[in-house]
Amino acid sequence: MQFVKAIYPGTFDPLTNGHLDLIARGSKFVDELVVAILRNSDKGTPLFTVAERVEMIQEAIAGAGFTNVSVTTFDGLLVDFARAQGAKAVLRGIRAISDYEYEFQMAMMNRKLDPKLETLFMMPAEKYTYVSSRLIKGVFKLGGDVSELVPPLVMQRMMAKTGTGVG
Ligand code: PNS
Repeated sequence: MQFVKAIYPGTFDPLTNGHLDLIARGSKFVDELVVAILRNSDKGTPLFTVAERVEMIQEAIAGAGFTNVSVTTFDGLLVDFARAQGAKAVLRGIRAISDYEYEFQMAMMNRKLDPKLETLFMMPAEKYTYVSSRLIKGVFKLGGDVSELVPPLVMQRMMAKTGTGVG
């Protein structure tokens, strides 16, 4: 039996129940799962700072009782970070066919950069297949109720941050 450490990279702005579902599934298949937040994302102005996102994920991991999951941040190439961490795999979620093309390209590029690093794809629970951080932020800003789609601690932070409420 070999020890398998995997990286679950992403922007996580913010963490959703879909992410948590994937962490739950992924952490059952690997010995150690490292949730890694990209620091230099080109996705525009984030809602939460990287430090806030680390805190929220830490709290969510502790709350869910995952003992082999940790959170950290990274910059630069994912393959370099994975190698430095001694990770053999990258975990990514696929929600719908529309995710596939982007994920396939990233996985193949990462394989080109480091043929030893495998990408593992898992599907979240069906009830989260339409959930994305981008949609959560957009709907929340317009007053929509997203409380069933993010952990309660994320909901509280979003309300505190934006000064807006639910519905
Ligand atoms: O949650 P996201 O925004 O879909 O995550 C994207 C992420 C962070 C996994 C991806 O942008 C990434 O790995 N960036 C690091 C830079 C890198 O390694 N690029 C080459 C892979 S195509």
